[in-house]
Amino acid sequence: MIVNVVDKNLCSFLDEQDQAYMQQAAEHAHTLLSSGKGAGNDFLGWQTYPEQYDPAEFSRVKKAAKKIRDDSDILIVIGIGGSYLGALSAIELLKGRFYNLKQGDLQIFFAGNNISASYLNEVMALCEGKEISVNVISKSGTTTEPAIAFRVFKQYMEKRYGRKEAAKRIYVTTDRHKGTLKALADVEGYETFVVPDDIGGRYSVLTSVGLLPIAAAGCDIDAIMQGAQQAMKDLSVPGLENPAYHYAALRNVFYRKGKTTEILVGYEPDMVSFAEWFKQLFGESEGKDGKGIFPAAVCFSTDLHSMGQYIQQGLRNLFETVLFFKYPKQEYIIPSDDANADGLAFLDKVPVSKVNRIAFQSALLAHTDGGVPNIVLEVDRIDAFTYGYLVYFFEKSCAASGYMLGVNPFNQPGVEDYKVNMFALLGKPGYEQNRKSLEARLID
Ligand code: PA5
Repeated sequence: MIVNVVDKNLCSFLDEQDQAYMQQAAEHAHTLLSSGKGAGNDFLGWQTYPEQYDPAEFSRVKKAAKKIRDDSDILIVIGIGGSYLGALSAIELLKGRFYNLKQGDLQIFFAGNNISASYLNEVMALCEGKEISVNVISKSGTTTEPAIAFRVFKQYMEKRYGRKEAAKRIYVTTDRHKGTLKALADVEGYETFVVPDDIGGRYSVLTSVGLLPIAAAGCDIDAIMQGAQQAMKDLSVPGLENPAYHYAALRNVFYRKGKTTEILVGYEPDMVSFAEWFKQLFGESEGKDGKGIFPAAVCFSTDLHSMGQYIQQGLRNLFETVLFFKYPKQEYIIPSDDANADGLAFLDKVPVSKVNRIAFQSALLAHTDGGVPNIVLEVDRIDAFTYGYLVYFFEKSCAASGYMLGVNPFNQPGVEDYKVNMFALLGKPGYEQNRKSLEARLID
């Protein structure tokens, strides 16, 4: 298995009843996912997508990515939530956090994932004197944040290139038939890519939503899909032998014991955005009906010097899930120094990855002794194949975990509430009713 669920240090937290519950929970989730009879079952397309995606669309993605790399210095990716986190996570994991500083390579900046005027100004300033392409991604085609950013960049592109050339540099990823963005794309003649009807935003990274920016970044999307296909096969089996169900069942056992916060732990800074993707996936899928594990994330050893104190001795409502890559992308050997003025002679010629692994093992034992169960997901190394595998692994785990918890893991009704308030306060037609009562409660 590409993902190895290591439960070696969990025995003190689990008893026989827990084992029985986990077996039952895994069977329950498998029945619902394989029969397609669970809540939200019109959003199960991600389960078979790695084998059933449209090869013609996939080829167009590769062709567009090549064109963008050939004719642009910068790609602006406009989207929010599931429409950008997957691509960002892949690019950072596969190319490293400094991907935008690599000489001669396409730079990729993300916009429309916030409503900060300063951020927008800074991204636009970066475009000056550079050749630009834009990929706007929105399944609904109506989300306010990306809609504002796209209005800005559409005008910018038309001013820079003229309407006709701008149209050749703007790529739209949205619903196949409906939405404002689709209608606009049809009028302007933008090339469009499809977000499948039966795949929700946070489960969509392996569709054109993620694949176009990822391919434009120069990552191997064939290998990503092969990894996802392998995961689809490996993770189709029932029971706790299936690592996705095993992980999901462990999460739910700890939740039932009052461990209501899960901290995803990474030991590679390149994983920081992947953790953001993970947080959205699990947070939106499970946090509803007054239930849900709160997903948090840390990057060790960096955060051992900030959050480490809380984890070791704070409120005992935590469990950790450590996603550990056994081998680094590149090794570095600590140099020897005869003077030994820093007292580090015991680390002469030791690989840095070995020290990182010892840090992982040391924190794991300390936190376990401090009452924080540590689930370990061990993976050999990060590459495009493994990325595709991991995405599918977490999607399957998340869907299974949601069913174990008794929620619909594919909707997000709560996201609407702030939008309704915002539209009313901004004066959007059709939202006048609430405006007065909301204004009366505003803080100046
Ligand atoms: O997972 C989800 O469905 C959401 O997080 C969406 O991805 C997010 O709200 C953006 O929606 P849209 O792609 O419709 O603009």
